[in-house]
Amino acid sequence: MKHLRIAVLVSGGGTNLQALLDAQREGILAAGEIVLVISDRPGAYALERACAAGVPTMEISKREYSKEIRQMLFEEKLEEALAKSEIELIILAGFLSILSAGFTRKWDHRILNIHPSLIPSFCGAGFYGLKVHEAALTRGVKLTGATVHFVNEIPDGGEIIAQKAVEVLPGDTPETLQRRVMEQAEWILLPRAAEEVCRRILAEQPDRK
Ligand code: GRF
Repeated sequence: MKHLRIAVLVSGGGTNLQALLDAQREGILAAGEIVLVISDRPGAYALERACAAGVPTMEISKREYSKEIRQMLFEEKLEEALAKSEIELIILAGFLSILSAGFTRKWDHRILNIHPSLIPSFCGAGFYGLKVHEAALTRGVKLTGATVHFVNEIPDGGEIIAQKAVEVLPGDTPETLQRRVMEQAEWILLPRAAEEVCRRILAEQPDRK
């Protein structure tokens, strides 16, 4: 088939998933098709968005496992679901669980993540959601933005694919800044980056039917 099969991993509201679904409907994302949405949080609103778009969903909750074996069993179930749907590319869209070094090595250059800052600023362990924007406001940066990068074993440490800058305005709160970064950067950047990566991968498989 002429497009890559994509799984989107989510944990929360799913506005980045929505941007991907809208881009697919509008033909901006054409070299890839979102065929599965997996949440690590039961009842995440992102799952509603997937259902409304007719995309199959799945919940893989980590809570059911004891701490020691939680990560291993979580990733086993994840791998099983990805294999069953013949997934070729994973997109982390507001996904908050850590993926092990073993998992990210297996999926080298096949996992994308959207981070709400201009990496290497305000990224790495502990920098997610509003915390990122709180740190940007505390530092007093005049520009922030979003980054799409490949995922490796270092949190937010993988190769950068695309970035988009957003102005910090006087009087910004973490909430107003987060909203602007989502609207002006994340929701534009992620679909474009996904399309670019899918096209690159397809171009490496000329005999693909
Ligand atoms: C947002 O802060 C986004 O920057 C980050 O995850 C949070 C929730 O995203 N990637 P979403 O609305 O669940 O896509």
